[in-house]
Amino acid sequence: MLDSPEISDDEYDSLIRELETMERQYPELITPDSPTQRVGAEPSEAFRPVKHRSRMLSLANAFSFEELTDFFNRISRELDTDKIEFVCELKIDGVAVAIVYENGVYISGATRGDGEVGEDITANIKTIQSLPLRLLTDGELGLLEVRGEAYLSKGQFKQLNEEREEEGLPLFANPRNAAAGSLRQLSPGATAERHLDMLVYALGFSSALSFSGHWETLAFLREAGLKVSNYSRKAASIEEAYGFCKSWQEKRHALPFEIDGVVIKVDSFEQQDILGITSKAPRWAIAYKFPAEQQTTVLRDIELNVGRTGAVTPTAVLDPVVVAGSTVSRATLHNEDEIRRKDIRIGDTVIIQKAGDVIPEIVASIVSKRTGNEREFVMPATCPVCGGDVVRPEGEAVARCVNINCPAVIFEHVQHFASRGAMDIDGLGESVARQLLDKALIRDVADIYYLTKENLLAIEHFADKAADNLFNAIEASKERPLARLLFALGIRHVGAHVAEVLAEHYGSVAALSGASDEELTGIDEIGPRIAESIVDFFGEERNTQVIEKLRCAGVKMEQAVVARPEQRFTGQTFVFTGTMSKMTRSEAEAIVKSMGAKASSSVSKKTAYVVVGEDAGSKYDKAKSLGVKILTEEEFMGLING
Ligand code: IVH
Repeated sequence: MLDSPEISDDEYDSLIRELETMERQYPELITPDSPTQRVGAEPSEAFRPVKHRSRMLSLANAFSFEELTDFFNRISRELDTDKIEFVCELKIDGVAVAIVYENGVYISGATRGDGEVGEDITANIKTIQSLPLRLLTDGELGLLEVRGEAYLSKGQFKQLNEEREEEGLPLFANPRNAAAGSLRQLSPGATAERHLDMLVYALGFSSALSFSGHWETLAFLREAGLKVSNYSRKAASIEEAYGFCKSWQEKRHALPFEIDGVVIKVDSFEQQDILGITSKAPRWAIAYKFPAEQQTTVLRDIELNVGRTGAVTPTAVLDPVVVAGSTVSRATLHNEDEIRRKDIRIGDTVIIQKAGDVIPEIVASIVSKRTGNEREFVMPATCPVCGGDVVRPEGEAVARCVNINCPAVIFEHVQHFASRGAMDIDGLGESVARQLLDKALIRDVADIYYLTKENLLAIEHFADKAADNLFNAIEASKERPLARLLFALGIRHVGAHVAEVLAEHYGSVAALSGASDEELTGIDEIGPRIAESIVDFFGEERNTQVIEKLRCAGVKMEQAVVARPEQRFTGQTFVFTGTMSKMTRSEAEAIVKSMGAKASSSVSKKTAYVVVGEDAGSKYDKAKSLGVKILTEEEFMGLING
């Protein structure tokens, strides 16, 4: 059910908008499980340690049929029977999480941590669209903790790494690391952008319910509206369970998510209880792990690609070879340092593997196979596309072409500009962009808005209708919301979410272009790296010229700014400690944030004020020793009331 939506995305969006309008009018009707509440704005509680109600265990591994048979012999001896039924489940390569519902309403989520104590990721977990915020059962549910795997689909993982590559950020080696990183974003908005998904595979704790076995529990969880894998099967023997493992070892490439094995669990809870657990893992379950899929091939050449930000990335050109179900002929080499570190030379026989089965990577070169004819790779000093200088700033791994007119950079930028999340110009895809640039009909993204219908008819296979459609799509894109335009401009480190934050804060391109480093870092969610990149962007004359051209063409450059309360404390940090009498700590934090300040849980020299309530502890002492201004609750009230 959760896989096959009953309404289209458009219908969903329009219903959400209607709900948002109603909730703005009647805020008292907003419930915690309202779909509008998926992205809360409350990162302050993030990553607080939480103790699990029962330990979150890991699993023992098996790598062969023999090891599975050993497992079976062990447990059948213990149970004194060979009548054991198993449940076989795919072992998803993600991150284990524990989700708590109180009377059917989502209240919190945590990572596994060390099994005893995890991290509070309540707000981030809430962004997972397939996770119901309210369960679908009528009966008394009491406190219910479910456990499962949060993960990124292969498609999302690929997209995320492509974006990171483009931005010159280190790539995630596998979907598990990517999921872990996504869950630990300081802002839930950033987690939401990663489009995590989740499958539930166990009940961790229940105050009101009991079941006789695992299969029955899964059925209940599915009924309750949780996303439970439909690939799970019962097996009446270990041979049958092994058959399940073998068959998924073959078929796993067809799945939309990454799996690294199969989990085999004893179904009966009575038998599970008899078997018990070791210090780390249950004796009643085992993970059958698939062998890593690697291949050897020859590295013929190293090609260079120039991305939107000018990043020059080396790509290995390989003799085609089948790995993990598909033919691989290219692999990313990330950057020059990586090539040196792995001592990879052109002509080497190399071991390749599909990292998380998606992007192929070179694990190592086989030095013993060298003939002496191999060549070392050197990053060229000039861009392979335009001949401009390639510069690698000190301390950075990525080399960039610094020519702002580099055709490769412009080509990538045009495509980004027209893409769906940006200006969404339907019909302006790769081939059209290539032709417009080759025919010198455009030289930058602003030129798109000066194209005539006649110009468009010059595009291969473009008749009247196609030219009309593209012309209209270009016209329509002038009205995109400010956030889309800011994203489309391609400012480094300004992704879709940051663009939203900036649009909301500044309301226009002009206002943003005048912002200082200091002012920008004063905004929640804008760090120094983003701020620097924005200031640099607007400091570049060519960029301001493009913006001016966009403005003259009639591209919308502003939006109504929602009246914000006074931003009196922009750039200042407050720390609250002890119990306050007139409001809770999170209420106080919300007040100062609404006035432009940040709220932090630790005191440093940079803290502007420490507000002390009843029973304030070490933070008070620290504030005193650092000479940070200390306020009582009364003084704090006086300060905010002006
Ligand atoms: S059961 C008591 N079932 O694998 C057993 N784990 O190596 C607890 N995993 O930490 C885990 N898919 O993150 C179980 N269907 C599945 C799973 C699964 C993935 C992960 C989980 C766990 C790790 C153990």
